[in-house]
Amino acid sequence: MSTKIPGEKSKAMLERGIPLFRNGLRYAEESQRAARRGYRGASQIIIDRAEGDFIWDLDGNRYIDFQNGWATNPVGNAHPEVIDAVHEAHKRYGFHYDHSLRYELAEKLAEIMPNQALPRFSYEVSGTEAAESAIHLALCYTERRYIITFSSAYHGEGLSTKLVSGYDGEKNRYLEAWTGGVIHAPYPYSDNIPAGMSEQQYVDYCLWYLDNHISDSMAPRDNIAAVMIEPGLAEGGNWIPPSNFLKGIRALCDKNDWLMIADEVLTGMGRTGKMWAVEHYDVVPDILVVGKNLSGGIEPCAGIAARDEILGNNPLSSSGSTFAGTPGGCAAGLKTLELYERYDLVENAARLGDIAAEIMQGWEQYAVVRQVRTNGLLMGVSFQSPVDDQEDWYFARAIRSRMLENGVWAISDQEVTIRMYPALNVDEEVLREGLAKMEEAISYVDRHGQVVGDSPDWPTGS
Ligand SMILES: Cc1ncc(COP(=O)(O)O)c(C=O)c1O
Repeated sequence: MSTKIPGEKSKAMLERGIPLFRNGLRYAEESQRAARRGYRGASQIIIDRAEGDFIWDLDGNRYIDFQNGWATNPVGNAHPEVIDAVHEAHKRYGFHYDHSLRYELAEKLAEIMPNQALPRFSYEVSGTEAAESAIHLALCYTERRYIITFSSAYHGEGLSTKLVSGYDGEKNRYLEAWTGGVIHAPYPYSDNIPAGMSEQQYVDYCLWYLDNHISDSMAPRDNIAAVMIEPGLAEGGNWIPPSNFLKGIRALCDKNDWLMIADEVLTGMGRTGKMWAVEHYDVVPDILVVGKNLSGGIEPCAGIAARDEILGNNPLSSSGSTFAGTPGGCAAGLKTLELYERYDLVENAARLGDIAAEIMQGWEQYAVVRQVRTNGLLMGVSFQSPVDDQEDWYFARAIRSRMLENGVWAISDQEVTIRMYPALNVDEEVLREGLAKMEEAISYVDRHGQVVGDSPDWPTGS
């Protein structure tokens, strides 16, 4: 397939959104800006339906789904058993807070937490709320004021999660005065390592910064409550932590009496081929943030798990909103975990991740490919311009557009990275086909440059 994106029906729907939504004109304006500078505009579709490994747009085009509801559908789109379980819960309870499913799911979660060391759970609706609840819990439990987070981290779009996120300074405009208790530390990227440093020296520098620089010049050690890290910085560019970085953080937390918060909203529940990404690094955090996959792709469910003494009796910290732990959300979580067990989905994700990594290992030979970064089915490829005066991320955009034309739907916003998060039960042939189509797109843009295909003709709203 090579399709004009967006098709007429998707385009008409996007046009309806212009006066309705925040930044309704975003795509149109962005495309015009790109065109003025000689770049290709953004491509977008509107989804009509989703099933298993695929989605269809309003114009009837089918796509292999590597976006996966932004990494929330571990058992594929619209899994019928999860839908039935949620439906049953809706019929039985409607919405109530104190229902038995929240107890059953909390018991199951306690069993699967790293080393079974985080037995207590507190429900939230979204990953954002869960991350915020982890932050407040850490401050209240330690009775300290500061949280350390990392450049390129993403923890959500709530007020305090915006403050602790570090992936785009623009996102925090006019919140400058609110950032008092947040310290952003450098993250040891596998790319753009400061001149002359080896990867290991870079990791050592980042750990040194945490242990010394912060307490020398920013905040006293004993006023730091926690270090919060994603064990795979997904939204910020799919950065996979170097193997000894998380262990180093755990050691510093132990040494300084800081809590370690692992935000596993995206990396958790099998995405990386282990139930929790921290298990790759053999560390157990004190608080673990859960979201996305727990919903089974059907009904939101999120929360935090923590050590007994942290979450067991801490009257200062409060959290949990009206809809935290809905019957439907808990039913989705329970059925999803049942499917994980029945189909060995975590092992399956590890196996498929190995296959994908083998396919992608040669891609760095393309001049437009900067780096391939994967851990299980947490997969990303960053791109660059092979020509000096052109901006890197337009190459990512051109490749994603060509992928859409080829029938593959992946994540790439205004970033140099394209990220692929297929379901943990994606059919192996579909995974291979999607990656083959992605490679075709890379090779095409590699040969023809970033202005390939028709730039979309966006409605202007005027
Ligand atoms: C690591 C991480 N934390 C928190 C969030 C926020 O979750 P939600 O979008 O469900 O609020 C995300 C979302 O992408 C995430 O990737």
